[in-house]
Amino acid sequence: MLTQLQTEQLKIEYLQPLETVNKLNNSLGQDVKEGLTQCPKKIPSKYFYDDQGSQLFEQICELPEYYPTRTEASILRQYAEEIAQITGNCELVELGSGSSTKTRLLLDAYDQQNDLFKYMPIDVSAGILKESAIQLQQEYSSLKIQGLVGTYDQALTQLKSTSWSARMIFFLGSSIGNFSETDYDNFLNKIAKVLEKGDYFLLGVDLQKPRSILEAAYNDSQGVTAAFNLNMLSHLNHKFQGNFDLNCFKHQAIYNEEKHQIEMYLESETEQRITFKNLDLTVNLERKEKILTEISRKFDVEQTKHKLASKQLKPVKVFTDKNQWFALILCQACK
Ligand SMILES: C[S@@+](CC[C@H](N)C(=O)[O-])C[C@H]1O[C@@H](n2cnc3c(N)ncnc32)[C@H](O)[C@@H]1O
Repeated sequence: MLTQLQTEQLKIEYLQPLETVNKLNNSLGQDVKEGLTQCPKKIPSKYFYDDQGSQLFEQICELPEYYPTRTEASILRQYAEEIAQITGNCELVELGSGSSTKTRLLLDAYDQQNDLFKYMPIDVSAGILKESAIQLQQEYSSLKIQGLVGTYDQALTQLKSTSWSARMIFFLGSSIGNFSETDYDNFLNKIAKVLEKGDYFLLGVDLQKPRSILEAAYNDSQGVTAAFNLNMLSHLNHKFQGNFDLNCFKHQAIYNEEKHQIEMYLESETEQRITFKNLDLTVNLERKEKILTEISRKFDVEQTKHKLASKQLKPVKVFTDKNQWFALILCQACK
């Protein structure tokens, strides 16, 4: 198990002490319990990310069909300097930082413009957060890193005010597309609350496009996305002493055109009963019954700008690629 890590330039902290987390183990699985006892059944997508899930996501980013990472990276490559010029030196806070690979494009721009700058990666997956923070420390001598292990919610409620002149929170990879409309709204309220007037928010959103491109991206020919989806069951088995048999489920990803969202499911191939010793939970599944594991909403730039503005997050500039497949929206808190 990871312990806290601290040097002068690098600090990794858990948003809650591990003892507290362990004591709350039962209530931690409450979301799994609720999801698997409702109809249709659901599992929150944060459970994709144990160490294995984080590694599989890295492989997904390299797949020929998975355009979002490449496209967002191309936008950052072109516009990171402009973003850094607009915001000036500020504390960089990344939600769901993962391997921080694309982030390096932003860090390079801030590195060029400043003698010293600060980055706070935040991720629920402790292993990848620690590994990437250590690598970044070796790559950027003028970077101060404070990594936080925990969820977006924990981070947005526990983030202290910054001693830097301003802060930019950024949320890449269109991870915002994994939220339902209500969670999207609540999340933006929390962002707006945490930011002070003049602070920035940089949001990556995957844009609406033809079904064939979207479905290919989530049903890759090498089966990596399927392995990523199924790995969620291993993670739950491990975390809550469950007995999912991965061979009894099939990956599915379909585009719901009406809702503008990819829906990712695990379909039960047999009638089966699953138990979780740690959750005091038994779940019955019909043959062909589906568990929803992720939605990935696809956005419209104007509607998103309007939504952000309604939260006092004033859009400053939109950066996009030549196909308009992905957008980065830079906003400034104006409350
Ligand atoms: C889709 S990946 C994106 C990674 C990276 N930002 C990118 O754009 O390539 C989502 C990342 O967010 C993390 N994550 C997922 N749900 C989370 C949550 N509720 N709180 C904190 N981190 C979360 C995962 O561990 C993973 O590293």
